[in-house]
Amino acid sequence: MYQIQNRRYIGNKFKLLDFISNTLLQVGIEFNSVCDAFAGTGVVGNYFLEQGKNVIFNDILFSNFVFYNAWFSNEKYNENKIKKYIDYYNNSKDYITDNYFNKTFSDTYFSNNNAKQIGSIRIHLEKNKKDLTEREFYILLTSLLYTTDRIANTVGHFEAFLAKQPQDKKIVLKMLDIKKYPSKSIIYNQDSNELIKKIKCDLLYLDPPYNARQYVNFYHILENLAEWKQPIVFGKTLKMERDNRMSDYSKAKAKSVLQDLILNADCKYILLSYNNTYKAKSQATINKITKNEIENILGAVGNVQTFEEKYKYFNSGKTDFGDNHKELLYFVEK
Ligand SMILES: C[S@@+](CC[C@H](N)C(=O)[O-])C[C@H]1O[C@@H](n2cnc3c(N)ncnc32)[C@H](O)[C@@H]1O
Repeated sequence: MYQIQNRRYIGNKFKLLDFISNTLLQVGIEFNSVCDAFAGTGVVGNYFLEQGKNVIFNDILFSNFVFYNAWFSNEKYNENKIKKYIDYYNNSKDYITDNYFNKTFSDTYFSNNNAKQIGSIRIHLEKNKKDLTEREFYILLTSLLYTTDRIANTVGHFEAFLAKQPQDKKIVLKMLDIKKYPSKSIIYNQDSNELIKKIKCDLLYLDPPYNARQYVNFYHILENLAEWKQPIVFGKTLKMERDNRMSDYSKAKAKSVLQDLILNADCKYILLSYNNTYKAKSQATINKITKNEIENILGAVGNVQTFEEKYKYFNSGKTDFGDNHKELLYFVEK
């Protein structure tokens, strides 16, 4: 079975959940609702659901919205029905035909056979939407997207594919290990600066990107497969048009959008993750907002407390960036 953290996602905070939990214990606050406004994999919001908090999940990427609906929706689903679909996809070849996905991505991110099967499963899911509830559809699509991520000919994201020829791999969809939570979730797919004007929560957790590298460039293949609009792709790395998913947090206006978000937030507390993960080797990896600027922006709405954790950062499980990387958490009572 897939666990929520069984995907490769840059900047995910799975290994930092203890740090987050200890920090909240230290500040000793009571709260019932949380908004995970840049939720990524959703592992942080998931942690809060496990603690019995009501959680708002949001991300600008559509594929992440699909994942939250699979893992956290309050809707019921028929597990046996899902297992039947998964068995069919894993054991039959009846449904496999040439399609957009292998015509577009064969011998790049995937072998021709793998791309053909992935696209065929996606087509079959689309055709069977009427037989599935919305959540069942999202669960099956999530299983397909997690599997696609695992077999891709990449270092762990889709910024580029590896030069070596992709090998045929066995495609095995798995059931998701979905937990039952006593509390509720609300799921959005919006720019967080728009969302913030419409919601209210006790604790606002913020984990935006801090450099020029756009998440949609890392995960465009998952976006493409999730949406299934079969867009034209271009360039060496076969990306689609994706302007509507470009984050302002990775642009020159990062500082002013964060400021705007903090000022518009209707919450009691803010917890913000900040890191110096990348050494400033290139323009793309220089943090758009400095530590000082963050402290000033947060300081304008309340008293700021800073917590620090030394965190060994591994890039795709291969490159050790050394011991110099600190993860910071800023806590503010508004
Ligand atoms: C550092 S990652 C978050 C990781 C997450 N905390 C986790 O543990 O997986 C930043 C996320 O912010 C999202 N994002 C970037 N700009 C956004 C915006 N303006 N509104 C909403 N989400 C945004 C990205 O798609 C990405 O998933």
